[in-house]
Amino acid sequence: MKLMKSPIGIFDSGYGGLTILKSIQNLLPNYDCLYLGDNARAPYGTRSFEVINRYTTEAVNYLFEKNCPIVILACNTSSAKALRNIQINLLPNKFPQKKVLGVIRPTTEDIGSFTKSGYVGVMATPGTVVSNSYPMEIANFSPKVNVVQQSCPMWVPLVENNTFMEEGGQYYIKKYIDELLEKEPRIDTLILACTHYPILKESIIKYLPSSVMVFDQGDLVAKKLTNYFKRHPIVNDHLSKDGKIEILTTEKSEKFDQHLDLFYDSNYTSKTVQIN
Ligand code: DGL
Repeated sequence: MKLMKSPIGIFDSGYGGLTILKSIQNLLPNYDCLYLGDNARAPYGTRSFEVINRYTTEAVNYLFEKNCPIVILACNTSSAKALRNIQINLLPNKFPQKKVLGVIRPTTEDIGSFTKSGYVGVMATPGTVVSNSYPMEIANFSPKVNVVQQSCPMWVPLVENNTFMEEGGQYYIKKYIDELLEKEPRIDTLILACTHYPILKESIIKYLPSSVMVFDQGDLVAKKLTNYFKRHPIVNDHLSKDGKIEILTTEKSEKFDQHLDLFYDSNYTSKTVQIN
């Protein structure tokens, strides 16, 4: 019997995961990807644990119904708040053959090797900060590293609305960086722990001392995923590899497409879907 092959599922609350999709496509250009952004209900970062869990589970179920053998939660908020529940409850009970991976572990595994001062800053949504996932994961891999977190509630809306270059937008970018460095000036390594934040990277760098190294997640995640496929040939065999990308959104596609090229310079257009 011929093996059915399907795309990698990539999920985010909105546009942010497109920064992960871009890196995956660069490193694994043949792999088909099915992207789903829950823009109608974004941002997730300020929502409760229960709601993020429910929304993320709905999205994963939807991508599994589309036959994706593996889903990447390209959203830190979902990775922090829903991944564990999905891995412990949803997969063994309903989808024992399927896999769901998050973006926090691949981002934190090697970060300890970059800091010289031993102080790492983490900029993230309020949901990710409250979950404490970054300090806990980094402590697993690099117990001597000190992690200082900064919650940035305005950054996702600034990206989603494309207002970050306006005066008010720049004010909030600088404000959260100043607050972080006030807490700990010895930070020399900064993680952009939200997939929307690479869009702000140029502005972020402008307000940071040049000695601080800034890491976004796309390339780190794509590199670890490549490794994962080598270690899990059965998953790899179930993935279709015709270089096709499909983008789905829970918002009106016309509205989504207006901002799409800010994240993903291509001629793609999205399709609207209902996932709940
Ligand atoms: N891109 C999501 C993340 O990485 C944004 C979360 C949100 O919607 O607030 O956390």
